[in-house]
Amino acid sequence: DFPEEIIVARQQAPLVIGFGAGEFFCASDTPALVSHTRTVLSLENGELARLTSMGVEVYSFAGERLKKSPRILGWSPVLVEKQGFKHFMHKEIYEQPAVVRACLEAYLDSDWQPGNPNSPINLNLPKELCTDVEQISILACGTSWHASLIGKYLLEQLANIPTAVQYASEYRYAPAPLTPNTLTIGVTQSGETADTLAALGMEQQRRAGFTDKFRSRMLGITNRTESSIAHMMPHVINTHAGIEVGVAATKTFVTQLMAFYFLALDLAHQRQTISTERLAEIIAGLRQLPAEIEKFLEIQEQYVEELSHQFTETQDFIFLGRGINFPIALEGALKLKEISYIHAEGYPAGEMKHGPIALLDAKVPVVAIAMPGSVYEKVLSNAQEAKARDARLIGVTPKQGVAEADIFDHILPVPLVDELLSPIVTVIPLQLLAYHIAARRGLDVDQPRNLAKSVTVE
Ligand code: AGP
Repeated sequence: DFPEEIIVARQQAPLVIGFGAGEFFCASDTPALVSHTRTVLSLENGELARLTSMGVEVYSFAGERLKKSPRILGWSPVLVEKQGFKHFMHKEIYEQPAVVRACLEAYLDSDWQPGNPNSPINLNLPKELCTDVEQISILACGTSWHASLIGKYLLEQLANIPTAVQYASEYRYAPAPLTPNTLTIGVTQSGETADTLAALGMEQQRRAGFTDKFRSRMLGITNRTESSIAHMMPHVINTHAGIEVGVAATKTFVTQLMAFYFLALDLAHQRQTISTERLAEIIAGLRQLPAEIEKFLEIQEQYVEELSHQFTETQDFIFLGRGINFPIALEGALKLKEISYIHAEGYPAGEMKHGPIALLDAKVPVVAIAMPGSVYEKVLSNAQEAKARDARLIGVTPKQGVAEADIFDHILPVPLVDELLSPIVTVIPLQLLAYHIAARRGLDVDQPRNLAKSVTVE
């Protein structure tokens, strides 16, 4: 009856209106609009809009006309171009040095020198957010959940704060007891994951009736400062990764890790749980990361690509890691599953002997992440156990350790960095492995079947 108009309404799932020159758009996510316009308006829950060729009118559900002004996105349309890459995922893997650099620029004091008693980190968070915090609860899904597991490792080992990481989709139905000294952190690159928002919403409600200080002890870590989580949370850390188009998270993952490094180091500094020497060492290591990643991509990508072609027909993969690299084993397996449709499992290397080792034979390649440090020998010995079951072994390990690591059939040589920082370099060959296997299989790498970039349904 009204062919010249569209009526849209928002209730829970996000809705964004785009303003072009004589044309208007609506979408569930801003990246969909960037190649058309950067002038956008996000509707709130309970609002609707009427789009005609004359313009956009916004109303409340009760029918009252609302005055709302659009805003200009800071993103350039170049971010949604492939720039010579065949897939966005590949381009986004290559953007990782730049986004890690952007995080360093945003949060690290470039003039800070070892010996300076002030914190080198400024996350723009009020100090009282974390004073007296006795425990941290992190809620997330998918790759953001993996980043959160590394966050837990850092917050516990550096800042000495007990930390729990929960799947947001599970947490709502079995929430942990809440104490006034709990800091709740929601991690979501899109800022729109329905499960994460619902779990955080429940935490907000559980806090109602407590003091202001306790109610505001909530923090979002997101790549989208205009998203629902950013509106919902009293405090936000922006991960500065720019738009990520590929469904498989890559650059947003490494920037989530950067956010956790900064948060854990800042808390460790405030609580004096880290020596000044160790702090200076880690800061120096963080500053080196962009160059290390660049070098890796330049020198090793071709080898990873050639190696990956040997696995295009493989049906099952196992990824092993321990300590801070156990979540990277999970992430490596998830990347492979979601874009190549190959079954893969990530496992803590020491747990293999409690069951999954029965899966191994010559047809199941095992990727072992072996970084020199506290669990290096242990991982090598677990890898040896896999080899004894005829598994083809791929080591993600630095060249420098190659003599001890000659058990591997293939090595993806990563830069030798501090064990604490190693997840940022060990994840990259795994992203590339998954990418090249999927691309070689001729699959739709950027939009794998059954998946969406923002999961806005529960
Ligand atoms: C990652 O590669 C996945 N596509 C997926 O697991 C994703 O991390 C998850 O849906 C959570 O997304 P979010 O970070 O936007 O909340």
